[in-house]
Amino acid sequence: MARLIIVSNRVPIPKSRGASAGGLTVALRDLLTPGTMWFGWSGRLSADPSLQPSLVEARGVTYATIDLKADTYRGFYVGFANGALWPLLHFRLGLMQYRREDYDDYLSVNQTFAESLGQVVQADDTVWAHDYHLIPFARMLRQQGFHGPLGFFLHVPFVPPSMLEAMPVGRELVADLCAYDLVGFQTEEHARDFRDCAQRLLGATVKGEWVRLNGRSMRAFADPIGIDAESFHHDAERAANDNLVKRVAGSLAGRALAIGVDRMDYSKGLPQRFEAYGRLFERHPEHRRRVHFLQICPRSREEVDEYRKLRIELDRLTGRINGRFSEFDWTPLRYSARAAPRTTLAGLYRIGRIGLVTPLRDGMNLVAKEFIAAQADEDPGVLVLSQFAGAAQELTEALIVNPFDPDAIADAMHHALIMPAAERKERHQALREKVFRSTAQAYCMRFMEALLSIKAQSVPRAVA
Ligand code: F6P
Repeated sequence: MARLIIVSNRVPIPKSRGASAGGLTVALRDLLTPGTMWFGWSGRLSADPSLQPSLVEARGVTYATIDLKADTYRGFYVGFANGALWPLLHFRLGLMQYRREDYDDYLSVNQTFAESLGQVVQADDTVWAHDYHLIPFARMLRQQGFHGPLGFFLHVPFVPPSMLEAMPVGRELVADLCAYDLVGFQTEEHARDFRDCAQRLLGATVKGEWVRLNGRSMRAFADPIGIDAESFHHDAERAANDNLVKRVAGSLAGRALAIGVDRMDYSKGLPQRFEAYGRLFERHPEHRRRVHFLQICPRSREEVDEYRKLRIELDRLTGRINGRFSEFDWTPLRYSARAAPRTTLAGLYRIGRIGLVTPLRDGMNLVAKEFIAAQADEDPGVLVLSQFAGAAQELTEALIVNPFDPDAIADAMHHALIMPAAERKERHQALREKVFRSTAQAYCMRFMEALLSIKAQSVPRAVA
């Protein structure tokens, strides 16, 4: 029977610790029908891992995982994926730390994934790989003899040729992406940048969304990811009874809540956001004592130096802002590095007057969409959104800001705080419609239809 096999670095085996695939599980939920397989890393490191994946079945879905070697995994994940690729793809060339040995480990983990999946993949399977950890995977799986439909979705941004050239193996990465049949990007801009790279760096022929390289065609298109807006909205309604949400609501004592929720990552623009909050009280002192800003940012990738530095910087900025503006009965900034359950977050978004989503660069940013889905239609909060989040391409009725400009963020917060209810409702209505239309389900269906139609067309083409 033809199966769909999803491949990602982390695998969300139900109830297993340390292997969460985060938002990906929610985004792909509709595809997790009985018979589907999800393949990737087990979350474990061992000295001599087997290529034979361990299988766990839950609700008809098979989770197939392998262990990896500790030193190879470090070069792959800490070194190349998050020390070189992540900064590059988020336009932070100054933070990119490229080392040839890390790239070798990156190739080696991809090779291991391909060889291991090669043992269980069947000729009529469809394979969909996710994110920047798995760029060379298609080429390697092809070498294992798999000829079925092979798609890839990049959850993070892509860069123009002038930036990609700084990556010593940039051309190899683009050529490897061309080994997929279909590559999806969050926005049209990222898809275009990729096609430009293929053309300028590799001499590929580009016609519309199609890229032809070495006699082989693939399609690179935009497929913006969404959320399950309906169920998130219900979660938010129900979360009014959540204890933590009630406690936070009670603690506001009538003050407006500004809320930010991000992984603790330098791409999220957190220092600039904190700085902006301080500027709000300087530029618009009438808001002093009238607002609380709650920033939730669970720690992330602490093995990478830059992430540890960020944490120290945020601790410092929090102390500075609270030290400067606090009064005996008012602490303006609450900052927590603890993760919160999705339903609690839904409830917190709902009581937020302002949602602050100001990444310096982001593939999409689903918090922006969740904030909108969580709002009460009769009294909605206002989204302040970075122009450099993929979500800004769709959510144009948000207050769009340049995240590098703390004064602009401060002014947008002021605008949100004084915005008349009629304008809030009007903006919200337009945003809500988009978030409920461009859902996770629509994202999956667009991708699967595109992938399967390429393969269907390519059979007669190959015969001809
Ligand atoms: O934003 C890209 C992404 O891969 C997400 O899909 C994921 O939730 C997040 O980064 C987590 O990263 P990591 O696996 O490094 O903890």
